[in-house]
Amino acid sequence: MTAPLVLGIETSCDETGVGLVRGQELLADAVASSVDEHARFGGVVPEVASRAHLEAMVPTVDRALSQAGVRLADVDAIAVTAGPGLAGALLVGVCAAKAYALGTGKPLYGVNHLAAHVAVDQLEHGPLPAPAIALLVSGGHSSLLLVPDLAEDVVPLGATIDDAAGEAFDKVARVLGLPFPGGPHIDRAAAAGDRDHIAFPRGKYADGTSDFSFSGLKTAVARWVEAREATGEPVPVADVAASFQEAVADVLTRKAVAACRANGVDHLVIGGGVAANSRLRALAADRCAAAGVQLRVPRPGLCTDNGAMVAALGAELVARGVAPSALDFAADSSLPVTQVVAA
Ligand code: KG4
Ligand code: ZN
Repeated sequence: MTAPLVLGIETSCDETGVGLVRGQELLADAVASSVDEHARFGGVVPEVASRAHLEAMVPTVDRALSQAGVRLADVDAIAVTAGPGLAGALLVGVCAAKAYALGTGKPLYGVNHLAAHVAVDQLEHGPLPAPAIALLVSGGHSSLLLVPDLAEDVVPLGATIDDAAGEAFDKVARVLGLPFPGGPHIDRAAAAGDRDHIAFPRGKYADGTSDFSFSGLKTAVARWVEAREATGEPVPVADVAASFQEAVADVLTRKAVAACRANGVDHLVIGGGVAANSRLRALAADRCAAAGVQLRVPRPGLCTDNGAMVAALGAELVARGVAPSALDFAADSSLPVTQVVAA
């Protein structure tokens, strides 16, 4: 018997993502991004994102189906991001998924966006050993999670007390005159810079918690750049980018490995848009190797928001026999990370 075919829909932020997964095999990953429409505002504008999702929804589903060479009627279950995310943006995906589920008579799973960022790794690296520690770093979230069971037990260990890691990348990029979203541009600029050029602060570095703080770092970068501009000398963008990126990667990897040690866990998975960062990936590889921790990071295209991650989590839930959501479940912009499936 072939594994169930699951359609996944993601609209929590500015990517309309539709993925098709059979078991743990990725068949299609179609993404339409409205990022260019937000660039001039320096951040995602919720109303603009919602409208873009409305326009992109049906064409992106059709594109995913044709990529996979399947018909809507072949789909065995539908999964959609129920939260957390932008309320209006989530609503578009949830309404579309409900319509598809109603039209096809297939079960519907409203799933947690953060758990989906973890689940997507299974498409590349096979079943996630349990328990694992997950480091989730995106534009909206920075959390460390203990994952005893991806389908039903996700325990938060810590989170950012102020800015998310990706948010810090985006704000620092703005200070350096780089386009939005800043993460990939800082990553690129940093390649030519010296990461030891400036010793930027590492918030909550050795406080013994699994929490993060990036707001002080962001302010320190802004003050450093202002002071430099006041002297009339050019700002060494590559060095600032590399030093900033080092500070973020240093704190994230130190705390992730410490969480593995503290919980006696030897598997770490990193997900979310910031997991695409080259320095974070390299430093995590070094530190995990030194600590005897097995590191799993999906390829960069699966780290940023996409529909495949939602389909991957949906497929896991189907395989585990978890009950689908009721058709009247609500999109929840602040869905807690402990709730993997919307009731
Ligand atoms: O997971 P994601 O696509 O959306 C959210 O759920 O927020 O993450 C987007 C974030 C943005 O802040 C973006 O700047 C950051 O991920 N990002 C990166 C890189 N690629 C994307 N940050 C650092 N380095 C990168 N290469
Ligand atoms: Zn995300």
